Amino acid sequence: MPHPLPAMDPADIVVFGGTGDLAMRKLLPALYLRDRDDQLGGDTRIVAVSRSGLDDADYRDKVDSELRRTAPRWAGADAYADDIARTRFLDRLHHVTLDVADDDWSALSGVLGPHDHRIRVLYLASAPQLFGRICSGAARAGIVDDRTRVVLEKPLGHDLASARAINDEVGSVFAEEQIYRIDHYLGKETVQNLLVLRFGNSLFEPLWNASQIDHVQITVSESIGVGNRADYYDGSGALRDMVQNHLLQLLCLVAMEPPAAIDGEGVRNEKLKVLQSLKPLAGADVVRDTVRGQYTEGLVDGTAVPGYGTELAESRAGTPRERERSSTESGASGTSIGTETFVALRAEVANWRWAGVPFYLRTGKRLARHASEIVVQFKPVPHSIFSGRDEEIPANRLVLRLQPDEGVRLHMTAKEPGPGGIRPIPAPLDLSFARTFGDRLPDAYERLLMDVLRGNPTLFMRRDEIEAAWTWAEPILRTWADTDQRPRPYAAGSGGPAAGAALIERDGRAWHEDY
Ligand code: BG6
Repeated sequence: MPHPLPAMDPADIVVFGGTGDLAMRKLLPALYLRDRDDQLGGDTRIVAVSRSGLDDADYRDKVDSELRRTAPRWAGADAYADDIARTRFLDRLHHVTLDVADDDWSALSGVLGPHDHRIRVLYLASAPQLFGRICSGAARAGIVDDRTRVVLEKPLGHDLASARAINDEVGSVFAEEQIYRIDHYLGKETVQNLLVLRFGNSLFEPLWNASQIDHVQITVSESIGVGNRADYYDGSGALRDMVQNHLLQLLCLVAMEPPAAIDGEGVRNEKLKVLQSLKPLAGADVVRDTVRGQYTEGLVDGTAVPGYGTELAESRAGTPRERERSSTESGASGTSIGTETFVALRAEVANWRWAGVPFYLRTGKRLARHASEIVVQFKPVPHSIFSGRDEEIPANRLVLRLQPDEGVRLHMTAKEPGPGGIRPIPAPLDLSFARTFGDRLPDAYERLLMDVLRGNPTLFMRRDEIEAAWTWAEPILRTWADTDQRPRPYAAGSGGPAAGAALIERDGRAWHEDY
């Protein structure tokens, strides 16, 4: 039986960028689903801010038609079919037309009214260059007090200096405990399950170290391309877009020490120590231990798709509105050495627990598989007693499948049934979340938005974590530029450039391709 969900206290959730892609695709569906399950308290309001000139009725119509169209995709055909839930949700929506660069914010402060006991959340689903301006504008307009929370979307900077500048600007208005920096990977059920798997079972912890673990692989493989985000992506690339945040956060959860408690400071202190222990990659190490790739045209699931360059050109030729959106989403200037849509790299966590254990990280767009997983590869048995067998006994492997088909699989060795001697064969122990727990897994944003309302920062990134992650990532970017390390082409629908496989094969290991 699922645990009953507590209703939140009434809140005003102000979404800057309220007509944008993130609001429509993620935030409003997530808020609707939480409301449908009675989690939004009392007269909670969602106040969208944009320059669009919509009034409340227009905005409700817009959201209604968008959610009708997309609901089957995010939560099944019936997700948006309940008239009572739908009407209650739409009634919570308001729209304020505001150019955040203007001095006059009275339209917004008028709608919000005086501070009362309500929780007030400012959700900045807008370009990061606007974060500072929005925070100072909100302070000037008198809509911030010490109970107000601000939520920041990525990308938080394109290097260490720009991340610090954003953190300084936001920090001049909000105290650190009021700031919620989203990394939506931390909201994924399977990612949180990693904490429970590690610290809710006594089985793994004694083995979770360099003496028992051969290596770790973290793969986030996407079959989608960059589509109409190409303009943003071109100033960013896979290292900034995925590795510096999502993949490093996953690495932290695998590698961190047990925190004293699962709370905001405990978990984040331990993650920070992992980031600070990452062996710096710079100079010759970068050339040896990182691979960049960029997709060319190819076939994905039987459909011909264009290469990155064509998508970029099409995105740039898009409507002015698209151009404006994607260029403000970016924070970085385009790189002359080309943008990587694939990265593979070999990292090391230089501490007592992990010394000498490689962490292979890999992510890319337009790859053959749509699959994200963490593979913990244990060491092989020290000696095989099954003499006379040609096959080696495969080493145990724990695979955490983040998406799709969420679950955990422990690859073991068993005896092949039947007479004729003892033949060891691989056999998995399988925990499929869908089969075991049934039910839909909530989207990351549902969990994270409720955490903001309940004031729980555990799954959000602290300033020092962001800056430590940039401190490690920045020399890689710099060396790529200094050494003119251009992305290697790979066909869309393939497994990435051959050099990505060679990176791990040269250590006598291989990427794990089947769950
Ligand atoms: C985003 C990146 O943060 O994460 C995208 O900007 C990427 O490029 C996305 O596609 C992947 O998220 P998910 O939840 O689909 O794995």
